[in-house]
Amino acid sequence: MLREIKINAPLYEALVQHYHKNPRSFHVPGHRFGGGLQPPWNDYYRDILKLDVTELADTDNLHQAEGVIQEAQQLAADCFKADETYFLVGGSTSGNVAMILAVCNPGDMIIVQRNVHKSVLNGIILAGARAVFLTPQEDEKSGLSTVPSLQDVEDALERHPEVKAVFMSTPNYYGMAVDVASYAELAHRYECALLVDEAHGAHFGFHPAFPASALHAGADAVVQSTHKTLTAMTMGAMLHVKGDRLRKDALRQALAMVQSSSPSYPLMASIDIARAMVDTYGEQLFDGGLNAAEHFKNVMDQKAPAFRYLGEQAADSSLPWRLDPLRAVVWDGTGTLSGYELLKELERQGCWAEMADSKRVVLLFGISASYEDVEALAAVFAEIGKQHGLDTKNQINETRLSVFDQYRYDRISAPVILSRVIPDERSIETVPLYLAANRQSAELVIPYPPGIPVLYQGELITDGIIAVLTNLAEHGAVCQGIADSSLTSLRVYKKG
Ligand SMILES: Cc1ncc(COP(=O)(O)O)c(C=O)c1O
Repeated sequence: MLREIKINAPLYEALVQHYHKNPRSFHVPGHRFGGGLQPPWNDYYRDILKLDVTELADTDNLHQAEGVIQEAQQLAADCFKADETYFLVGGSTSGNVAMILAVCNPGDMIIVQRNVHKSVLNGIILAGARAVFLTPQEDEKSGLSTVPSLQDVEDALERHPEVKAVFMSTPNYYGMAVDVASYAELAHRYECALLVDEAHGAHFGFHPAFPASALHAGADAVVQSTHKTLTAMTMGAMLHVKGDRLRKDALRQALAMVQSSSPSYPLMASIDIARAMVDTYGEQLFDGGLNAAEHFKNVMDQKAPAFRYLGEQAADSSLPWRLDPLRAVVWDGTGTLSGYELLKELERQGCWAEMADSKRVVLLFGISASYEDVEALAAVFAEIGKQHGLDTKNQINETRLSVFDQYRYDRISAPVILSRVIPDERSIETVPLYLAANRQSAELVIPYPPGIPVLYQGELITDGIIAVLTNLAEHGAVCQGIADSSLTSLRVYKKG
């Protein structure tokens, strides 16, 4: 059956053909198609090295693609409906940095939601851009954050007409995806580019059960981790561009700055294969994973009733998002086990989740989870429920601490310069939190929960921010990585 399918993965095929020519290698890499590996290291790893070559006439060059890599990237652009697609060998991390470097010169302004991956902040630092941070909206039921409101983005654009780009991140780690169409329309009205970190949504748009992709919704540039939800090797990702709001020469230069001049061929071939699988199998590719995910919830309802999971939002919700059906966000409805404890219990019984927060675990089914996998997983949850006597305990009524809405908290920050300079300790002092208003923070403050940065290094501390931090501290939130985790004091830059 498989042999009849014409799989068109030009980069992968070129590497296989090159290997079969029995080439004599007088170039890097030094392992020479794996032949240089000595026992006992010549087992698992050896086959991959057969494809691990360098830039040759047969294998093209990622940074100046004119042959098989160009062909593979063009097929990816066609598949993802982009004008151009760039293969990334440094994950979405490298794509986020490159997108920002391509749009922002030093001093340029960018609007960005607070809850972004650190690569976005690093991109802003390296570009020397000024960031206007927007507080994301919180889903009423779960308390999880998605993206800033359209109104806040518009207000920020009105306040700062010189803004070059709006940066959004969707879906979030929990699989909650927001349609960015109205944000794209808004950004374009203000002559800005919309850049989207869609690291967790490489599969979006390829099945009716999935949310639409950000590129389809009108974003100008979108980064996706092909390794997260499709089948590429770890670090394999793509950057898709549509329209001409991003300069291609600037983007190519930025990508060459942040990526290796010797990108891994097995890695690039795995991106090519991931795309070829989508092209070859279409919607069907996802049916198995989707059925398994659905089955998981049914089995959980029967066997492990103490656990709850994130479901689609109520139809009348004021904050529309769609859930990625290929992941499950599960928590102990009795409030006995934290997310971290649950994660450890799962690991102890052989099930390894994607991540945990103080309350929940996030589980990924991917395209290949089977009924057997999810039944085994549900059985482990049932066992955990039994061991901790959860089934006989009452479910708790969840009260959520809404931290941002209770105060005159400015949801739109003043422009912040995220400095790359390692600060001189002599320029910093510690002040009690209640005396920190109108000072510049010398610390990044991310209280858990809710895990959203309330204050960036370099940001001006307002009365609203102090009120939010005080409230969080009173409710037991803890900040890791700052000098005073209890939040009674803050490190700020000295005046003058
Ligand atoms: C929202 C988001 N963006 C970007 C990244 C970085 O992706 P990568 O691991 O592909 O570099 C992550 C990593 O988890 C992420 O969660």
